[in-house]
Amino acid sequence: MTVPSTIADLRREYARARLDERDVSPDPIVEFTRWFAQAQQAQLPEPNAMTLATATAGGAPSARIVLLKAFDERGFVFFTDYRSRKGAELEANPRAALVFYWGELERQVRITGEVILVSREESERYFRSRPLGSRLGAWASYQSRAIPGRAALEADLREIEARFGDGDVPLPPHWGGFRVVPETIEFWQGRESRLHDRIRYEREGRERWKVERLSP
Ligand SMILES: Cc1cc2nc3c(=O)[nH]c(=O)nc-3n(C[C@H](O)[C@H](O)[C@H](O)COP(=O)(O)O)c2cc1C
Repeated sequence: MTVPSTIADLRREYARARLDERDVSPDPIVEFTRWFAQAQQAQLPEPNAMTLATATAGGAPSARIVLLKAFDERGFVFFTDYRSRKGAELEANPRAALVFYWGELERQVRITGEVILVSREESERYFRSRPLGSRLGAWASYQSRAIPGRAALEADLREIEARFGDGDVPLPPHWGGFRVVPETIEFWQGRESRLHDRIRYEREGRERWKVERLSP
């Protein structure tokens, strides 16, 4: 293997697959289900890791990785601390973009849409499925706040452990899910010479989608 001398020399050709508007489902969730299953079959380490971009009311963007925990016709769900930076931004400006990058498959999926809160029942159901340590951690952490050091976090965790003892660790009021209700979903398949395939779905009604090919 030759080592490129500069970052500008890093590039690869994409030739694994193609994406044709005649073959895709008219329903982007059906298409996403197929791609997600293929990402799982390819044994990617974290196929459900996705970039979540949010913005302040003034339009200043921020992005981070979160884990997709559910999806269906209603949208794409992740869980977090509602008091976090993303939580505050979504409260002020309830719109988001999601990006999946499945490099081994030469694929990217981009989603944009409005963001709504997941019901307390649904958040509760997911929270109860988490390992005990994660449930305690959700109580001990105040996500995105500056803290004096690691020791302070660990002291908070010990206090939480003492508080709940061996008993139940309930869903914290500040913790739960968001659902990104898709307005656009774009499937990107890498192709030779940067002439990639891009198929974008745009919502036209409750269950109606316009399907277009975009120039790479
Ligand atoms: C692979 C991976 C998965 C993550 N999953 C989540 C998640 O599901 N929920 C979450 O709140 N943070 C998750 N994080 C941490 C976030 O990237 C981020 O650090 C945190 O949510 C604080 O973001 P904020 O300050 O912009 O709100 C994950 C990070 C990585 C690298």
